[in-house]
Amino acid sequence: MLWKKIKRILASASLVLLAAQSFASNDDIDSKVDSLLEKMTLAEKIGQMNQYNGFWDATGPAPEEGFAKLKYDHLRSGLVGSVLNVSGYERVRELQEVAVNETRLGIPLIFGLDVIHGHKTIFPIPLAESASWDMDAIERSARVGAVESAAQGINWTFAPMVDISEDARWGRVAEGAGEDPYLGAHIGVARIKGFQGEDLAAVDTIAACAKHFAGYGFAEGGRDYNRVDVSPYTLHNTILPPFKAAAEAGVKTFMNSFNTLNGIPATGSAFLQREILKGKWGFEGFVVSDWASIRELIAHSYAEDDKQAAEIAVKAGSDMDMEGYAYINHLEQLVKEGKVDEALINDAARRVLRVKFELGLFEDPYRYSNQEREQEWLNHKTHMAAARDVAKRSIVLLKNESSLLPLSKKQKNIAVIGPLANDKNSPLGTWRVSADDNTAISLVEGLKQYNENFQYEQGVKFSVGKETFADQIEVNETDRTGFEEAKQLAQSSDVVIMMLGEHGFQSGEGRSRTKIDLPGLQQELLEEIYAVNKNIILLVSSGRPLDLSWAHKHIPTIVQTWQLGTQSGNAIADVLFGEYNPSGKLPMSFPRSVGQLPTTYRLFSTGRGTPKPVVFWSHYIDEESDALYPFGHGLSYTTFEYSKLKVKALGENRVQVKVNVKNTGKSAGEEVVQLYIRDRFASTVRPVKELKGFEKISLASGKSKTVTFMLTEKELGFYNAKGEFLVEKGAFDVMVGGGSVGGETAQFEL
Ligand code: NOJ
Repeated sequence: MLWKKIKRILASASLVLLAAQSFASNDDIDSKVDSLLEKMTLAEKIGQMNQYNGFWDATGPAPEEGFAKLKYDHLRSGLVGSVLNVSGYERVRELQEVAVNETRLGIPLIFGLDVIHGHKTIFPIPLAESASWDMDAIERSARVGAVESAAQGINWTFAPMVDISEDARWGRVAEGAGEDPYLGAHIGVARIKGFQGEDLAAVDTIAACAKHFAGYGFAEGGRDYNRVDVSPYTLHNTILPPFKAAAEAGVKTFMNSFNTLNGIPATGSAFLQREILKGKWGFEGFVVSDWASIRELIAHSYAEDDKQAAEIAVKAGSDMDMEGYAYINHLEQLVKEGKVDEALINDAARRVLRVKFELGLFEDPYRYSNQEREQEWLNHKTHMAAARDVAKRSIVLLKNESSLLPLSKKQKNIAVIGPLANDKNSPLGTWRVSADDNTAISLVEGLKQYNENFQYEQGVKFSVGKETFADQIEVNETDRTGFEEAKQLAQSSDVVIMMLGEHGFQSGEGRSRTKIDLPGLQQELLEEIYAVNKNIILLVSSGRPLDLSWAHKHIPTIVQTWQLGTQSGNAIADVLFGEYNPSGKLPMSFPRSVGQLPTTYRLFSTGRGTPKPVVFWSHYIDEESDALYPFGHGLSYTTFEYSKLKVKALGENRVQVKVNVKNTGKSAGEEVVQLYIRDRFASTVRPVKELKGFEKISLASGKSKTVTFMLTEKELGFYNAKGEFLVEKGAFDVMVGGGSVGGETAQFEL
């Protein structure tokens, strides 16, 4: 109900704003771009391909010396097409005024920023939001990010990140949608819709960017920026589908990636950018490099110098150089020397200008920086309500083998323990560049609205030293101050809520880990508290799947609370006290140990999958092979029963699947009904399970519902190693349930 109301409010706000928009047709825009291009010098066209990091201090005079001065001079000469990391009414306006009033042709800038999970109002990290499997909620989150950032002058976000990853060591899993390309594609599209809306020229919609093209999530060993070496099968069936879906959904821009893909840096890959993206998929927007990734072609030993790097990248289809200086310094010369065809420059500039026209920047270059909207929309109360709503939907109940949850509002003697329980910064997570520090509602704050019968003890200090976005967290490994007080409190309490996990700055870019345990002394603290009181509700806060093997064995109740953003503590309290019945399902498997990584439920069968009395079968001798909590797993305070799975082949490669779902518990709840298939025999071995459908339903206690899925060629086919899409006849298994393990099964023939 609440979110429907929020949706109405957001929608009506958008309607008012939409009234001011323009409806330029594609043909109009093309001819406007053509006539502008005719007026532009080669240098000015290259300028459109040049993006600088912020260099303007709105409160001071134009920079007089140094690097900033150089950038400023370039701006005035029409040699800058875009700026990133400048936001706020005043700053954006001042820079835009220079572009519009002082350059020869007055071409407006496009302002880019990492609006990854909200802008001022921070929503759950993308991996957490993905656990909601709720496309409306995810779209709404992006919508709010667009409304707030657009009010601050931003017209382009570097999101969504649609990199699939099967490796929890990789810190950037926090920014993605997890391990599954089918779910990932749907989530990517929902985010794009949220950012771009119905009309890009509306003042509250911004251009989205599908990144990082491609393969970045498969960094070897989970180490960020590391090489990526994957089979064509994995490339076409796992990595590319969410990007393809993004292109089909009309995303305006792509960002290429830092990694090499099978020996070629993605930024310099004509195969990826020209053959696949702009060729096969017919993408008409523009591709921005990642930060200085064109120059990094040198570090990759792929280019000898900046000039060669520029030549390779432009030929490969990278249209804009992010803070890399390779294009601005060398492209003109490369064209003059005949090494780069001017047609490539025209094409890149055309793509950039086109998006600027679509954003309505030529009609009103200042439409995105508006002081009134800035004041009205940042941290708007409807945004806060939306953030709380999405946050509670993102929480996953991993284990509930006690009667501890939901907690009663009258419960006495509650202990709250753990350094993250009273933290107002960590819940904001990675990539919250525009949020003010310490603005999240902590768990301790959130609990108070339901029940004040608790005492809090930190138990252990999380880190020593600074906790900033730019630095690495220095985790406290030695100082046990607080252990004793926490133990005493636990001993004298009836229930213990422990909030442990990773700090928000321990995941994200550059934050790969070789251990995925509870950092520092937290595991020790957990075990010591458990020794004095077993009634523990463990809340796990993290930006990635952690190894919770010990906890799973001992702790009766475990809740995955990720990093949930501004409304974190409120949302967790909503779930703990049963105000909201948890409905999240894991978008990424939680392994039993780091040694299982990388892993996914979408494994291939092996020739030796069946246990044998001797060791010669596919297994670990010291660990189970399956996940501790598999993809799709998530409990509720109620229970759901699946029955009457019916499969009907309708001809023309269409198959209808129906299943009955009943709420067999005492409370109303939501369930994500998941459909998986297995193609029994094919010309390429297919995974043992692949998600091919899902629907989130809501059921009152005792009620049931028939859910219908339609499988078409899109779901039943696959790509071979050449990237050709095949639909092969034969036997299929279909499995429907509330997770990737178990459920009802049936077969059909195609
Ligand atoms: C580098 C990151 O890889 C990318 O995702 C981000 O958008 C840019 N920096 C700009 O901040």
